[in-house]
Amino acid sequence: MRVSDSEFEEFEDVFPLRDDSRFREWKSQLETLPPSSVVSIREAVADGPDGRRMRDVQLVTERLPILEVKDNVPKIGERVVLLAEIDGVYVGFCISSPGPQDSAPLFIQEVGVVPNARGRGIGMALLCAAAEREPWRNIAFATEDNNDGAHALNKKFAKSIGASIGKVPLDTYRDSDFNIQRGRGYRAWVINRPPSER
Ligand SMILES: CC(C)(COP(=O)(O)OP(=O)(O)OC[C@H]1O[C@@H](n2cnc3c(N)ncnc32)[C@H](O)[C@@H]1OP(=O)(O)O)[C@@H](O)C(=O)NCCC(=O)NCCS
Repeated sequence: MRVSDSEFEEFEDVFPLRDDSRFREWKSQLETLPPSSVVSIREAVADGPDGRRMRDVQLVTERLPILEVKDNVPKIGERVVLLAEIDGVYVGFCISSPGPQDSAPLFIQEVGVVPNARGRGIGMALLCAAAEREPWRNIAFATEDNNDGAHALNKKFAKSIGASIGKVPLDTYRDSDFNIQRGRGYRAWVINRPPSER
């Protein structure tokens, strides 16, 4: 998908962000999220509003690459991007990509939940939804060695589907499958789904 520089200009944020009314309104919605409410997950649409939703989540979630809306939109077209919402307020997303062959795993490339919405099971719900779409595939991801939250989440997810999780050499798959840059302390993992899950 090719995008011209100006196509999504109206969705890009205003700098400084304190002058961006859309961003300010979303931040104030995050501060008043009801404590117990249902998480809904949907597939993102390759358009300006969802590209902007991704961008907002990227801006407030550590470790996620921050892309402009014009670069998020084609990503939605090329991969599977799932958006999580609580009461209509977007709070996180997951990017996954099935490997090219039927026998290849599903690569989880990013999962991020904004700080105000953590600890409510949204990270787990995003992983479950991504995995359910590709029930025949094992699940692979690369995490930075010092990312304890991501390690704990992945372990808990593997346990929840009765699967084993193990390290594999980083070279087992292409860096582009994981969407990572070498030299930043990444380790690769595979969740081997039990036959009953497949
Ligand atoms: C990792 C992340 C996605 C977790 O999101 P979340 O919605 O808070 O996760 P959940 O509420 O579904 O947590 C599920 C389980 O994961 C584990 N977990 C999640 N975050 C954790 C943390 N910071 N420390 C330890 N365990 C953690 C816990 O076992 C938790 O279960 P519990 O609450 O019953 O103890 C979120 O912290 C985040 O966006 N971090 C920054 C981005 C990132 O590092 N992404 C991963 C690499 S792309």
